[in-house]
Amino acid sequence: MNILILGGGGREHALAWAVSQNPKCDKLIVAPGNAGIAQIATCATLNAEDPAAVVQFAEAEAIDLVIIGPEAPLAAGVADRLREAQIPVFGPNAAAARLEASKSFTKEICDAVGAPTAAYARFTDAEPAKAYIREQGAPIVVKADGLAAGKGVIVAMEVDEALAAIDDMFGGAFGAAGAEVVIEEFMTGEEASFFVLVDGEDVLPVGTAQDHKRVGEGDTGPNTGGMGAYSPAPIMDASVTDKALEEIVRPTMAEMARRGMPYSGVLYVGLMIEDGQPRLVEYNVRFGDPECQVLMLRLGAQALDLIQACAESRLSEVTVNWADDHAMTVVMAAEGYPGSYVKGTEIKGLDAIENDSMNVVFHAGTKAEGGKVLATGGRVLNVTARGESLQEARDRAYAMVDRVEWPEGFCRRDIGWRQLQR
Ligand code: AMP
Ligand code: GLY
Repeated sequence: MNILILGGGGREHALAWAVSQNPKCDKLIVAPGNAGIAQIATCATLNAEDPAAVVQFAEAEAIDLVIIGPEAPLAAGVADRLREAQIPVFGPNAAAARLEASKSFTKEICDAVGAPTAAYARFTDAEPAKAYIREQGAPIVVKADGLAAGKGVIVAMEVDEALAAIDDMFGGAFGAAGAEVVIEEFMTGEEASFFVLVDGEDVLPVGTAQDHKRVGEGDTGPNTGGMGAYSPAPIMDASVTDKALEEIVRPTMAEMARRGMPYSGVLYVGLMIEDGQPRLVEYNVRFGDPECQVLMLRLGAQALDLIQACAESRLSEVTVNWADDHAMTVVMAAEGYPGSYVKGTEIKGLDAIENDSMNVVFHAGTKAEGGKVLATGGRVLNVTARGESLQEARDRAYAMVDRVEWPEGFCRRDIGWRQLQR
């Protein structure tokens, strides 16, 4: 079959890596792709957020399945138009993508089904929002309602910080995404990411992971898109997983169907777990990045069978074959990230690093130019390894990190620390 993947980060490299190993995959195109993806697929230029352009491209290339990596094309209605054109697509329609694109929408759905999550209030004006913050006190969480590239959430430890966030959001710092603000109770506990495939009715768990959002070791410093992840997340034991499915995921999916916007695609369930009880932090309508990298290394070629079954509403016919393994990915980022960073520095040594079913360097922000690999983004490489234990996966991943010659890059040296200490 001919497959088109939309996106060009580490998540899409991991998807392309897994999909390309499945014998069913004849032609693989990734738009826009990156230097790593170019080694295993054809990279194409295409405006992934323009539904008509994507449909036209898919028809011209006789594409049998479109896999949408990031949230922006989903929110723009790319999946809707592909479905109208009867091109199988992995990813929800725009109406269902509101589970990520609107935090107040998700809160309303949680209310409707009684799913455990943080208490909240929503505001469209600064003064009542500030009065609410003063009344509630800190810590408190302020969120721009819409998509803000992962930057629209302020976890304020002091009231003043929360008040400043209100001024920023209503002052236009997040554009239209900040026209409405959700203020939430601060939840304590440990976070985990739970991934399920959904085809409207059926829900199939495809793995758990733990991300490391802060830039600094020991989980300090500003938030990032994620500095490293590992899978599975042992905190998601059978009981927590069951509660997450029965109290949160299935009721949400049933409510979406009842409202005439059935969900289809991968659902990323961000959870806060305390005393064995999961509460919803957020939904995302896509795989996490870098969580996808560890899931794909563990799933391998079967990922395509699962994704295809999801796109064709045949999830009840498939099962996941799990190996009893562990995977870790370490993000290498450009010095300065998540603030401003230099672009265009050269990365050497990648060709000498093993590349097999246990060890892969996924590329995120890279491009190939004149035989060199250049860093073009903030998060640049995802050094990923698999092992029989988390310790083994970790040791392999860092051994590869040490072979990457990139003086302008850095990584956290403590990915997995919480779990490795236990
Ligand atoms: P979100 O984009 O909603 O995932 O928020 C980004 C991060 O902010 C989450 O991964 C959590 O670490 C933190 N966060 C969000 N909401 C809350 C909350 N209500 N209580 C505590 N931490 C939160
Ligand atoms: N790694 C967090 C995310 O993809 O949203």
